[in-house]
Amino acid sequence: MSGNTEISYDSMIPNNVGLSSDKRVLKALEKWHPGYIKWWNDLIPKKFQESRVYLRTAVGVDPKGWAKFDYVKMPEYRWGILLAPQVEGRTIPCGEHVGEPAWQEVPGEYRALLRRLVVIQGDTEPASVEQQRFLGQTAPSLYDLRNLFQVNVEEGRHLWAMVYLLHKYFGADGREEANDLLRRSSGSEEAPRMLGAFNEETPDWLSFFMFTYFTDRDGKMQLESLAQSGFDPLSRTCRFMLTEEAHHMFVGETGVGRTIQKTLEVMNEAGITDPFDIQKIREHGVIDLPTLQKKLNLHYTLSLDLFGQEVSTNAANAFNSGIKGRYMEHRIDDDHRLSDATYPVSRFTGDGIQLEDVPALTAMNMRLRDDYTKDASGGVGRWNKMIEKAGVSFTLKLPHVGFNREIGAFAGQPICPEGNVLSQESYDSQVADWLPSTADGDYIQSLMVPVTEAGKYASWIAPPKVGIDNKPGDFEYVQLHMA
Ligand SMILES: [Fe+2]
Ligand SMILES: [Fe+2]
Repeated sequence: MSGNTEISYDSMIPNNVGLSSDKRVLKALEKWHPGYIKWWNDLIPKKFQESRVYLRTAVGVDPKGWAKFDYVKMPEYRWGILLAPQVEGRTIPCGEHVGEPAWQEVPGEYRALLRRLVVIQGDTEPASVEQQRFLGQTAPSLYDLRNLFQVNVEEGRHLWAMVYLLHKYFGADGREEANDLLRRSSGSEEAPRMLGAFNEETPDWLSFFMFTYFTDRDGKMQLESLAQSGFDPLSRTCRFMLTEEAHHMFVGETGVGRTIQKTLEVMNEAGITDPFDIQKIREHGVIDLPTLQKKLNLHYTLSLDLFGQEVSTNAANAFNSGIKGRYMEHRIDDDHRLSDATYPVSRFTGDGIQLEDVPALTAMNMRLRDDYTKDASGGVGRWNKMIEKAGVSFTLKLPHVGFNREIGAFAGQPICPEGNVLSQESYDSQVADWLPSTADGDYIQSLMVPVTEAGKYASWIAPPKVGIDNKPGDFEYVQLHMA
């Protein structure tokens, strides 16, 4: 290896895309990199930048050994560009080009559509880091702090992944889009992030766990459908991102689970049998189940909005052109063109909520949203098992898809979590029972005290059953920089 800066820069970025021999893209990434590092440094408080965090870094794409764990200072994290291995003879899985060889270059006619999808996906990645930037200060343990930062650095890597595609395949306009990904900012007045849920705050750790469970799962569904893309580099990029995404949802599911666990333990010890005895439960510094249900309602419905309109010609075009497939497209047994197929979508009329068959091509968003709901119900079932096992009579539920919506057929309609259409008056008088109130938020906030001693946990959350990378319970996941 020579002392050439380009080559040393290449070796700094773990990659399997032959960056060292792709001078043009390497140069473009070199130019983009300082802005990225500035974004990261402006965002994450200095004391954490200088702390040593036990992180996994993606160093390859072999399913058996793609990551290595070690202490890293986050600004020195090696954000790699990794694509799942090319599948020999891969064909376009859906739409009018089904069965043709997958594209290795951007097909001219779909260039704008593809670029837009890459940009929308790319925009969500840094947005979530921005939303979560205050949480380090109140982490309930070093274990959780480490998980937060793991999710953050990987969302950063996902941004890199999309920026690589923009630089590699979209020329000057790709470069501009890559710069804009660092210009927009979550919650900003002038230049907000592109999607609503990514401009909301993540004010506390329960929100973080709900976000990683519900909103990262939307990310999973989007990545799954882009992993089906006939544009092979996008497909390969998304396939590898999904490997990391699984951990984010694990953080969410176990985070909510450990919160529930602690509440159940405390109720049991204190002899509280009524889950609605909120006052008494809160005296013990844990989060009552009805409040958990409200947080669940909020994050699930915000995430449903990310799927867009139930009926959409853009979504039809993306499928028909072979740019975006359905969830598990390869496992679906049909013609993968959907020329005559129909799909039932929900509609809201003056008479209430109805299902109506529409051309399946136009119902792609609704279908993906339905798949999402099925996927999201798994963890809810596992949480309920814990509650049942503790002998507490309470069941967490996903609310009706019409509840609390801002996008699609149910936007702004007074529909309760059970799916009944109410008068606006009746809805307004009960909504505080369904969504977190300011008082609920204040209570949760009051529990957010940082715990920085290895192996110790805040009052409201149980320790994990197993450590990260099989580390013991008192492992120091973050060596905090004190100064
Ligand atoms: Fe991501
Ligand atoms: Fe994620």
